[in-house]
Amino acid sequence: MATILGIESTCDETSASICIDGKIHSNTIATQSVHEKFGGVIPELASRAHQLNIIPTVEQAINDAKIHKNEIDAVAFSRGPGLMGSLLVGISFAIAFALARNLPLIEVKHMHAHILAHFIGDHKPTFPFLCLTVSGGHTQIVQVNDYFSMELIGQTIDDAAGEAFDKTAKILGLAYPGGPLIDKHAQNGNSLAYTFPEPKISNFDFSFSGLKTSILYFVQKNTKENPNFIENNLEDICASVQHRIISILLNKLEKAALVTGIKNIAIAGGVSANSGLRNGINQLGEKHSWNTFIPKFEYCTDNAAMIAIAGYHKFLQNDFVGQNITPLTRWEIG
Ligand code: KG4
Ligand code: ZN
Repeated sequence: MATILGIESTCDETSASICIDGKIHSNTIATQSVHEKFGGVIPELASRAHQLNIIPTVEQAINDAKIHKNEIDAVAFSRGPGLMGSLLVGISFAIAFALARNLPLIEVKHMHAHILAHFIGDHKPTFPFLCLTVSGGHTQIVQVNDYFSMELIGQTIDDAAGEAFDKTAKILGLAYPGGPLIDKHAQNGNSLAYTFPEPKISNFDFSFSGLKTSILYFVQKNTKENPNFIENNLEDICASVQHRIISILLNKLEKAALVTGIKNIAIAGGVSANSGLRNGINQLGEKHSWNTFIPKFEYCTDNAAMIAIAGYHKFLQNDFVGQNITPLTRWEIG
């Protein structure tokens, strides 16, 4: 039996999870609403909220799993990439908890964890598989050869897909995080109402900064002519923007799958919660007879269950770190 406590604190979610023998028994998430009005995460406010949330969140996760803290065998934590102040809170807690209870510590790469979230349920991918990992900070196509052997085959050269959603939301006057709101408004809109450009980027790389600028100019031009333009056309604007972001993502993923010949295809990260992307990957999967893997909603955006499952697989390999571990704000996927 192996009982792992997972801790996630890279950005603006404080989360703790208990994984017992590869099964998730709890996944408690404290989401920080303090950033809503700023259009993005304010690092100093995030680390302060983590400090307030970390102990009650871990207590809740232990209670929800109906275990006693004596039963925990190891502590897994997100070492990065992420915000320095936010990471420090989670890592300091993990070190202190492990030290006090004489437990081994397991470091986890946040981006590995997003991908390894696919090993939580029963519908597990087989290796190798391609994973489109799309979050607020990353947009990557990763060839996953084994649990901790991953190859980056394409990534964004500027903004991430989540940022494209969040920045568009800010332009439209919607709150942060904008992705879920754009998704919601897009449901009833016409995705072909407006056309936004698709960037010409080589290989399997992505770019979203040009799209953001074209949306900004489009909105400025139209609101000059009609001050109620956004209000009157919000659903169509959201549907059209979402349509373009998804087509940029899926065109590259399709190309990568055809070139590598890999037919096990997954999506992961916060943007994989997007309903249009989830439908799109299913349609593409049917077209090419792929085995597609879409995470459950609760494992798309940041959560500690993915840290705990990744920690479990490292525990099986006796892959531990010392108490002198420090956060890494940048950390390549490799
Ligand atoms: O993985 P995540 O929780 O945090 C990072 O590691 O960055 O991803 C957060 C991102 C945000 O940009 C948010 O707007 C986006 O995921 N997101 C969505 C949806 N839900 C979350 N984007 C589009 N549609 C959604 N339904
Ligand atoms: Zn994330």
